[in-house]
This record gives sequence, structure tokens and C-alpha cells, in this order.
Amino acid sequence: MEKSSEISGFYRLSIPERRKLLKEWADFTDAELAAYEFPPGVDPAAFDRMIENVVGAYAYPLGIATNFRINQKDYLIPMAIEEPSVVAAASNAAKVARASGGFTAQTTAPVMIGQVQILDAHDPSAARLRILAARDSLLEKANAQDPMLIKFGGGARDLEVRVLPSPRGPMVIVHLLVDARDAAGMNAVNTMCEALAPDLARLAGGRSLLRIISNLATHRLARATATFRADLLATETRKGPEVVEAILDAYTFAAIDPFRCATHNKGIMNGISAVVVATGNDFRAIESGAHTYAAFHAKPGNVVTPLTTYEKDPDGNLVGSIELPLAVGLIGGATAVHPTAKANVKLLGVKGAAELAQVLASVGLAQNFAALRALATEGIQRGHMELHARNIAATAGAHPDEIDRVVARLVAEHRIRIDRAKEILEELRAPGPQ
Ligand code: MEV
Repeated sequence: MEKSSEISGFYRLSIPERRKLLKEWADFTDAELAAYEFPPGVDPAAFDRMIENVVGAYAYPLGIATNFRINQKDYLIPMAIEEPSVVAAASNAAKVARASGGFTAQTTAPVMIGQVQILDAHDPSAARLRILAARDSLLEKANAQDPMLIKFGGGARDLEVRVLPSPRGPMVIVHLLVDARDAAGMNAVNTMCEALAPDLARLAGGRSLLRIISNLATHRLARATATFRADLLATETRKGPEVVEAILDAYTFAAIDPFRCATHNKGIMNGISAVVVATGNDFRAIESGAHTYAAFHAKPGNVVTPLTTYEKDPDGNLVGSIELPLAVGLIGGATAVHPTAKANVKLLGVKGAAELAQVLASVGLAQNFAALRALATEGIQRGHMELHARNIAATAGAHPDEIDRVVARLVAEHRIRIDRAKEILEELRAPGPQ
């Protein structure tokens, strides 16, 4: 009989019942089904409350980036990521930055934007002014929605109103600016927007439609800068100043070409997202905000801009800087309930969301510097090769005591392929003298 995915009441089943159903669906062996087991320390009931239809947990490798010094304080940085070389690259870059005092980072106030879309206003420009004139009472109403946020020093701060032409007629777009303090701000901002929408529609003489936070958090920025000493960048074949010039050329490539810029910014997010995931924050919100910010600031004729900048100081050292929106929180969401996220926040020792954002910006800059340095010198593959070879060896079926030998041969031969790994294994396992 053909299988149907229309399973009524799946959400009402217990976790073991859902797993039983999956076992039948996929014809899992007991060993395969065990891949869904919760790791020690995770309360299945807590995960079951976090999202719907939970069947288990999906584990990511968690690595620690070392050497980071940010605003005169040392950090061990947890990174949850599946990609080889990212953690090592961040640690190496932080070591170079450390020799010049480490990273200097800062944040703006944690102000988020909530959007209310108003349609069908007959006089949109006048509607804009009517809304702005009611600013104080609107802010008061917004703040009445969240006494806790006010208690902690946050709250609605201001209104901005834009009139946007559209193929469906002009739209009046109201931005409610909310200081979210140590929260990412989603719930507070959305609640306030929903509460204000009827008043805004009445003032505009139109109707409201969407009421939702914007992930383009242009008022909640994090910035970091670091100096990378030229003499520490020398390779076996190239002097430090030459490497500085090569990195400047590599950076400039991203500044002039969106195809390169996409990859340049992706490398930055390798670092940032790994820490965002490790601390239980919403990595989609951060990614979306970062990439849209990069597009928002593009120079005329460009579609996107690098999130980092590189220059030379008077001594010929490389100075890197980064600026992007980083709307992360420490209260609410998975950060507050996920045991590993909680441990990671404690490990970081950050006092608030602003400090976490400063760490993230520094990691993003470190990651980008490491990628540019590798790309502009030996290329990215050498660093990737060994870890990649380990994965290939394990996938080919190498036992723990065989992995090193298989990896050594794969790397030496520059043939990191599963078929070759299998051949090497056969040779290693063949009876007789090796
Ligand atoms: C790979 O995940 C990231 C890089 O491609 C970034 C870059 O090219 O700058 C190495």
C-alpha cells in the first residue's frame, strides 16, 4: 500500500509513539532509530515544548575558539558548526589580533524596528503627519503592553513613518522603534505593533495589514575592529607586507563584485552563525539581517557590499573592521531553556546581549580575516584537506585505529576521495607484510 504523509493527530502522539511510526515509515533498524535519541542532559519534555511533532534531537559538533581578547577581556567562544576549519581559522585569526591588543568592539542601543503596514489611505502624506502628531500617545500605548520591558529600562522609543509607492497603491509604513534590552525583541515588538495597528489605521484613514518585526535591524548595530600585524602574516614564500597587499586586493574584489561578495560575507557568517546557534539564538534572523544590511549599504551600481573593511595603518599593518545588525538576546527563546545554550552563555561570561553582539562581531571579523589570509596565500584547500580526509576515511569505513593511516595517505596523494579511501583500507587490511 502506498504510504500517506497525512497523519491526523501526529502532534498528539507521545515521543515514543511518533518514533514507532517513523520506524515503520522508514523501515528503520533499532540502531537507525537510536540516532534520534536525546543526548544526556536534554529533557525530552522541554524539547517537546519548544517545537511541534518532536521525535528527538539533532546534534551538531560544538568546538571552542581560543585566543579571543575583546575589549581587554578574554573569551573562550563556543561554535556549533558542521564545517571543518572554521573553529581553527577563528582561533588563529584571534591569535594574530591578540598580538596587537585584540578586538575593540561596540554596539548601539538595542533598538528594534516593528513594522505596521497601512493600506488604502486616501491622503498618505497627510496620514503620515497625523500619525507622527500622535507619537506620544502611541508610544504610551505601546509601552503599556510590556511593563517588564519598561522595568528593565527598555520600551518603545520613537516612530518613523514612510510612504512607499507600490503597484497596489501607496502604502503607509509605520516603524515603531523599541529598545529590547537583553531580548532579541520579537515578542515585545510584535505585541506592540499588533496593539497599535487599529489606532494607526484609524489615524491614517486606511486599514492595517502586516504587523511584524523587521530583521533589518539598522538601529541595533555591532562593530568591531582589530589590527593584524604585517610581520605576523609572512609565509614561507611571502613577506608580511606582501600578504597585507594581497589581502587588500582580495577584499577589494569583494567590494567590486557581488559574486565574490556573497562568498566573502558567507565566510563572515560562518563564524557569527556558529556562535549564534551555540547560544540558542535565531540564526535565520541574524543571517537575513546581515545580508540585507549588506545590500542596503551597497554603493550605486553594486547590489551588495562587504560587511568588513580593510585598510593599512601608518606602519603597514592591516586594520580590519566590521559593522552589521546583530539582534541577539540572552533572555527568552531557546537561550533560556536549552541546556547547552545556557552552558555556552555561561562559558562566554557575557553580561548582556550587547556584549554577546560585540563577541559575534569580533568572531565575524576574525573569520573573514582568516579566510582572506588563506585565500590570498596558500589557498583554502590545504587547511580543509586533513579534516575533510578524516571525514572521508570514516565514511569509507575506517576504524578509529585506521583513520590516521588512511588520512596520511589521502593527503600525501592529494586524492581525497571515498573510492581511494576504500582501496587504501583494503590494502591496510590485506593479510601479509605491509
Ligand atoms: C567557506 O565556507 C568560506 C569561504 O569561502 C569564505 C571566503 O571565500 O571568504 C572560505
